[in-house]
Amino acid sequence: MPCKEKSAVSSAKPTILVTGGAGYIGSHAVLALKDAGYEVLVLDNLVYGHRDLLETVLKVEFVVGDTTDRPLLDRLFQTHDIAAVMHFAAYIFVGESVTDPAKYYHNNVVGTLTLLEAMRSASVDKFVFSSTCATYGIPQFMPLTEDHPQTPINPYGYSKLFVEQMLSDFDTAYGLKSVRFRYFNAAGADPQGRLGEDHDPETHLVPLVLQAALGTRESIAIFGTDYDTPDGTCVRDYIHVCDLAQAHVLGLEYLLKGGRSQTFNLGNGNGFSVKEVIEVAREVTGREIPVKLGERRSGDTPVLVGSSAKAREILGWQPQYAELHDIVAHAWQWHQKRHGFR
Ligand code: UFG
Repeated sequence: MPCKEKSAVSSAKPTILVTGGAGYIGSHAVLALKDAGYEVLVLDNLVYGHRDLLETVLKVEFVVGDTTDRPLLDRLFQTHDIAAVMHFAAYIFVGESVTDPAKYYHNNVVGTLTLLEAMRSASVDKFVFSSTCATYGIPQFMPLTEDHPQTPINPYGYSKLFVEQMLSDFDTAYGLKSVRFRYFNAAGADPQGRLGEDHDPETHLVPLVLQAALGTRESIAIFGTDYDTPDGTCVRDYIHVCDLAQAHVLGLEYLLKGGRSQTFNLGNGNGFSVKEVIEVAREVTGREIPVKLGERRSGDTPVLVGSSAKAREILGWQPQYAELHDIVAHAWQWHQKRHGFR
């Protein structure tokens, strides 16, 4: 089970370097790795990550720094016996990537290249990468499978696609083995309430809806009600962050056992509209959630739903929290704890 209390740890398991381990998905992955008995070293520049979660919840060794800092990376690889790298560190704001693409290409692409070069020097050849369904662009068929053409519609998507290409080329040339996960919409929180989503600025639907339920936000704006979908609002495939985290542990173990490089979608294969998400949040919280009907947000695709059959088949991945109700309930628990009393 993902995200449970740490069980008996086998000291024989190797050390995993987790970049972005103080962020939303990275921190849940650190918890899942610790749970599975791995030693974890976190590298995070703390621009968006949370030091308090590293210190009080995760309690792992961490270094504050950038993936673009090659001397720092070399030092980490020299001083630790690192068997593999899980790479979450990235900027994620789609809109900002359009207005400031240099920031995205520098951090997401140059930073990753620097990390891969440091790995090469240190002879570390296993890499688990956070990619995104944003690499697909406008869907040509649904559900999206891994072989769907990749034509991103923003620099954020391109920054992730470029890394996917680098990984493929690094495998061919240098034998670096990687698992690349293309996430659909990550949401939810550790069921025990230890970790959760806390972006600043927050742009994601589920936390914004819950802020409206808490009263820390006046209302939730629905971005577009005239899409060609059953209720006119956009449809997304929401996936519990702990199920994502668990997939990363499985992907790592697949590589440690000598698996070849692979790309996997991670989603539940079920689409929920913005209105449906708000309705589920009303049920879960028992609160009024004031809604404002707004204009379409530029760059939004009407429907994004993925098939994760490949991850189930090859990695044996089984989502534990596939119900949207559970995803929102766990997020609600976290939001009340983190923000309810401010
Ligand atoms: N939405 C609203 N109101 C809000 C916020 C979001 O109606 O205040 C809608 C969006 O228009 C969209 C849906 O809720 O239809 C989900 O929006 P999110 O911002 O939560 O998520 P996205 O689908 O835009 O983004 C996710 C990931 C990105 C990734 C993208 C790929 O968070 O990292 O999928 O499409 F790039």
